[in-house]
Amino acid sequence: MTVVIAAINGKGGAGKTTALMNIAGEYALRGGHVAMIDMDARNNLMKWWSDCQEKDAQPEGIEVYSHKTARGLERWMEESSGVFDYVLIDTPGEDTSIVDPVIASANLVISPIQPSKREVLGAIDSFENVLRVNDVLGRNCRHGVLRTRITVTVRHAELYRKIRPIIEDKVGTYLFRTEVFERNIYKDIHNGIGTLQMQEVTEAIAKARRETQALVGEVDEMLTTEVAAGRAA
Ligand SMILES: Nc1ncnc2c1ncn2[C@@H]1O[C@H](COP(=O)(O)OP(=O)(O)OP(=O)(O)O)[C@@H](O)[C@H]1O
Ligand SMILES: [Mg+2]
Repeated sequence: MTVVIAAINGKGGAGKTTALMNIAGEYALRGGHVAMIDMDARNNLMKWWSDCQEKDAQPEGIEVYSHKTARGLERWMEESSGVFDYVLIDTPGEDTSIVDPVIASANLVISPIQPSKREVLGAIDSFENVLRVNDVLGRNCRHGVLRTRITVTVRHAELYRKIRPIIEDKVGTYLFRTEVFERNIYKDIHNGIGTLQMQEVTEAIAKARRETQALVGEVDEMLTTEVAAGRAA
């Protein structure tokens, strides 16, 4: 079975592309066959991929494709997704019409946020879109909010403390326990040096690796719950 994970937040650049690169790297390391789809017109993922090629640092087990339309995505999903264990879809940081078709093919939507009102609202919008598409199609796509670029200072911010009550209690979607910290390595991987998992393990890299493993562990858990819920229904 192919698992489809999309990163969506129509407001902001909190780390959709970075999160998908790290998740892809983790699955590839475990021997998974991973496809990444760049649906963002700015082509951040495709640029990373060609930079990796130039530096002879393309990760094994990952392939990157570019599709900018719903039709392109649907056709690719029909024809090619079956040969992959994981399909990770990267979307633009703005509201677009491709969001609904992406949700329609996803098992899980991750909405990264930094503690900013705009991004929190964007994540709530994404959750509402997931609920709406699920309702129309009778599907059970999951949704989770991922806190990213966390620093000690950020943790003292008032909005940071409000995130859990807002997301879990008021909105009622899942908040990942794992937080993605602000780390230089997450910037560096954008320069075409391959995935996090390909870097020589220093203390700093080891921390990022543990963080990513915890995140993927949570993702796996959510996806198992989805399958279980689907079977029970
Ligand atoms: N946890 C992090 N620590 C440090 N830097 C980060 C982190 N996450 C992202 N960044 C930096 O922030 C930039 C934006 O992140 P990213 O491209 O992943 O966001 P995005 O949500 O995909 O943005 P967009 O909506 O513009 O596509 C990246 O170039 C990266 O350098
Ligand atoms: Mg991006």
